[in-house]
Amino acid sequence: MSKDIFNFSAGPAVIPDSVIDTINLGLDDFDRGMSIIEVSHRSHAFKEFAKSSESSLRNLLNISEEYSVLFLQGGATHQFALIPMNFSKNGVLDYLVTGAWSKKASEYASKISDVNIVSDSSSNNFTDVADLNSWNISDNADFFFYCANETVHGLEIHDPIETSSPLICDMSSTIASRPIDVNKYDLIFAGAQKNLGIAGVTIVIVKNKLLSGVKTELLPMFNYSAHANEASMLNTSPVFSWYVSGLVFDWIQEQGGVEEMARINKLKSDMLYDYIDQSGFYANPVSKPYRSWMNIPFTLSRDGLDDKFLSSAEESGLLNLKGHRTVGGMRASVYNAMPIEGIKRLISFMDEFAKLHE
Ligand SMILES: Cc1ncc(COP(=O)(O)O)c(C=O)c1O
Repeated sequence: MSKDIFNFSAGPAVIPDSVIDTINLGLDDFDRGMSIIEVSHRSHAFKEFAKSSESSLRNLLNISEEYSVLFLQGGATHQFALIPMNFSKNGVLDYLVTGAWSKKASEYASKISDVNIVSDSSSNNFTDVADLNSWNISDNADFFFYCANETVHGLEIHDPIETSSPLICDMSSTIASRPIDVNKYDLIFAGAQKNLGIAGVTIVIVKNKLLSGVKTELLPMFNYSAHANEASMLNTSPVFSWYVSGLVFDWIQEQGGVEEMARINKLKSDMLYDYIDQSGFYANPVSKPYRSWMNIPFTLSRDGLDDKFLSSAEESGLLNLKGHRTVGGMRASVYNAMPIEGIKRLISFMDEFAKLHE
């Protein structure tokens, strides 16, 4: 299908055309004439697919056998609940609050255990992170939680955080956008609907050592260890979403893996930030070291033009640029599947719009 549009949605988000073509093949015939949406998660064909998709992800992100890889339902938000349920030992839980998602995660955790807010960026409207020396890290937290990329605010922490407690990270909107050293983390999770496919499946990469400490009294559906023991097939798996993720893993590998994704993502985000910074008409509020490679919010210097900007962008085939309702302004989400061509088209549109309205 040839569509002359670019989809800047924050998620569900753009999927590569070649992946959509393969999905269509699977919709037609995945196994002996049956569509992917008709097959059992326990069928031989799907189990083989599931196994191979796990090994593709292990390969892509260099995940060792010391980790389990889970394909779960419930979204990233469900993990906000499961993480404290599974790993709090009635001590304190450290949360770094750098945007809407880590804030929400800390609120969920506080229903279950004592939460220590290590640092809270709400005082700067989630545009910066306080100096590490000022963080209030607990001596003996059950775990340390942070969100690597705050999708709403466009704030990204580019390197892993060093902590003595187990490190847990929400990577929903940054996973596979660059290489990561999985060994620095005890648990990584990500809803698939940004860089790894569509809504309905959530990927959890968890160190087996951490799993061994899960409270046995938890009901199986809420217990990461039970999901791992059943190879993510404790109940009916999200077959179609899992299938799409498997195809996206292969697509990333074909492009040159996460190293190549990183090269292109850095290029794309640099192009857009450089344009915004020199424009005099647009502005991005995030402190430079924390600017996201994936979600780029920006405002217009003149009031009352947002609706006009959005409708003109849409007429030019540039869709879903409206900022999150809590932040306003615009946001361009430029995940792995957004080609450089999309950024060029966006910049050229923004430039024309600015010249007309300056
Ligand atoms: C960083 C981050 N965490 C968590 C979530 C919540 O994901 P879900 O809607 O899959 O629960 C989102 C959704 O956009 C997100 O961007």
